[in-house]
Amino acid sequence: MPHSDELDFDLDNRLIGAGYAAEDDGIELSLRPRTLDEYIGQDKVKENLRVFMQAAKKRGEPLDHVLLYGPPGLGKTTLANIIANEMGGNMRVTSGPAIEKPGDLAALLTNLEFNDVLFIDEIHRLSRAVEEVLYSALEDYALDIILGKGPSARSIRLDLAHFTLIGATTRYGQLSGPLRDRLSVPLKLDLYSVEDLARIVTRSAGVLGVSVEPDGAVEIASRSRGTPRVANRLLKRVRDFAQVEGDGVITESMARRALSRLEVDELGLDGLDKRLLTAIIQFYGGGPVGLETLAATVGEEAVTVEEVCEPYLLQIGFLNRTPRGRCATKLAYEHLGMEFPAASAAQLSLDGETPR
Ligand code: ADE
Repeated sequence: MPHSDELDFDLDNRLIGAGYAAEDDGIELSLRPRTLDEYIGQDKVKENLRVFMQAAKKRGEPLDHVLLYGPPGLGKTTLANIIANEMGGNMRVTSGPAIEKPGDLAALLTNLEFNDVLFIDEIHRLSRAVEEVLYSALEDYALDIILGKGPSARSIRLDLAHFTLIGATTRYGQLSGPLRDRLSVPLKLDLYSVEDLARIVTRSAGVLGVSVEPDGAVEIASRSRGTPRVANRLLKRVRDFAQVEGDGVITESMARRALSRLEVDELGLDGLDKRLLTAIIQFYGGGPVGLETLAATVGEEAVTVEEVCEPYLLQIGFLNRTPRGRCATKLAYEHLGMEFPAASAAQLSLDGETPR
């Protein structure tokens, strides 16, 4: 499946990057849950979705259009597949940047059948012209096509099958208002807890035929940055170590040994996270520092810092976002083995401001 150009950079080489990597193809296909019951975590989303799907089925209608948003690697595509499967439709997959012209969208839409799901990844990257054609398709299940040019131009209306659009984005804020309004089932995916990730690791190990002890699963889960895609990737690598240097069983100590060889620290932080936190502390007195400045300091795109590093650093309480910029917290100082200054700029700024 195509993935974000914005997120391409070095994520493919980053073992714990949440971005999609080519090697995930096989893993993700075989490990993907097919039903809502098999899908672990995101309980609120699942419960709501169950109700919406049941109601739609009772009415004999397709599910209303859905917007899935949240950081990369949390299973937006997986969830879309589950929805299509549970509603009894087929799923067509595309992405915002892949639909270049209104005609491309028309070709996709006219091939859909009743109850089918059209999944548009990175829906915030649709062009204006394409987005406008999409509006009538979403609202009226119809396409208005202009034939000819000038005074003799006329428009014809093409009826479409009643389908469900599922849009996915990591950037909710970049979605246009009209599109947001038309995707009437918004579902926000959050980073997973260590417990849920450990259950995912155990389930995936079962699918792969690997033996993992509960403590081994927790060890992998706690270094997976709240992200199933990372957890499944680490599981595969740890399995290699267990098979070559152990008896094939992933115990806690085997997981620890393998993960430290892979240079993934106890919290799943890698070089980029550490460079980021160190830069805030050493160059900007612990913060606040603006996103763009910070990104430039560590030589990364702002979008990488914001979408890939920050959600996890915020979740584990290593970073605070304030209106004046990013600040490193006491926990971050401690993790990096640095002394937290008694009255740091970060602290003063935190006292006076609320994170956004
Ligand atoms: N594999 C990836 N994400 C998963 C999830 N949420 N539940 C079960 N297996 C998964």
